[in-house]
Amino acid sequence: MSTTTKRAATFLDKGGTGKTTSAAHLGVALAEAGEDVLLIDLAGKQGDLAKHFGVWEEVQEQIDEGDDWPNISTVFAEEWDQIATKLGDAAVESLIIETDEGVDLIPAHPGLDSLDADLGNIDDARERYSRLEQFLNEYIDDRYDTVIIDLPGLTNNVSYNGLWATKHVIAPVEMGPFESEQAAALRSDLKKIHDRFDVAVELAMVLPNKVDRRTNLANEYLEAFGEDYADAIAPAHVPVSQDIRNAADDGQTVFALEEPSTTAERAREAFLENATALQRRLDGSA
Ligand SMILES: Nc1ncnc2c1ncn2[C@@H]1O[C@H](COP(=O)(O)OP(=O)(O)OP(=O)(O)O)[C@@H](O)[C@H]1O
Ligand SMILES: [Mg+2]
Repeated sequence: MSTTTKRAATFLDKGGTGKTTSAAHLGVALAEAGEDVLLIDLAGKQGDLAKHFGVWEEVQEQIDEGDDWPNISTVFAEEWDQIATKLGDAAVESLIIETDEGVDLIPAHPGLDSLDADLGNIDDARERYSRLEQFLNEYIDDRYDTVIIDLPGLTNNVSYNGLWATKHVIAPVEMGPFESEQAAALRSDLKKIHDRFDVAVELAMVLPNKVDRRTNLANEYLEAFGEDYADAIAPAHVPVSQDIRNAADDGQTVFALEEPSTTAERAREAFLENATALQRRLDGSA
């Protein structure tokens, strides 16, 4: 990739481990470090990232009023280049929303519902998996320092596009046997992509999330993840914190809390430290 824009996707073939939370918090942490950050929500029409930044109502209104074209699903269409040529900069700008927390966002859209099937109709596998990469190369890279893509918790044509476009995966994991298996499956999937297409997708960060160090089991898994993924483990685990959940419900990250609890404060520090490590790993200088 001949680009200086750093890209990563949050992905694990498992629901609820913290993909959206990590995309949001790492994004804000990078913005706090002075970067221009774009988050892209490919994780489904429910619009979790937009909700996480309190802008989903705004998006929903546009959808209800029919003022929702172009949108994130449009950029995967064969006609996208023609649309973008015709509309110029306005085409890309109308996709992007500014949030209060210093990151920009391309929100989800109901069109994501049929995107997996639409992509499945493209015969050539490279073409099927590289539509998002083409879009980022052509229309996004000059605008941002880092792009983080939030992917669905399942392996399909949409998540493949995210992996292919970013070549770097952030895998949030909870401390349990199933997550451990899914992380192993992810590593073997990345190897398959490499063998089949000669495309190297790296496991950039295994990010232990919702860690409760008061339990032995959590400590054991934390240690095991550290050993199994010595090259990819995040420098700091994220503690389980009710504040993270509450803040998300209020449409913000823990960085926006005026009176963070102890665990929220620790979560902030963890995301800041992990964002710094991510910067280095995506730069290729670590
Ligand atoms: N460290 C944490 N402490 C407490 N709650 C958390 C933490 N991280 C995430 N959560 C909560 O857990 C739930 C799932 O997190 P999140 O939505 O980020 O997961 P996901 O992997 O994106 O899920 P999905 O597969 O449904 O997209 C959310 O309610 C979120 O607020
Ligand atoms: Mg999610």
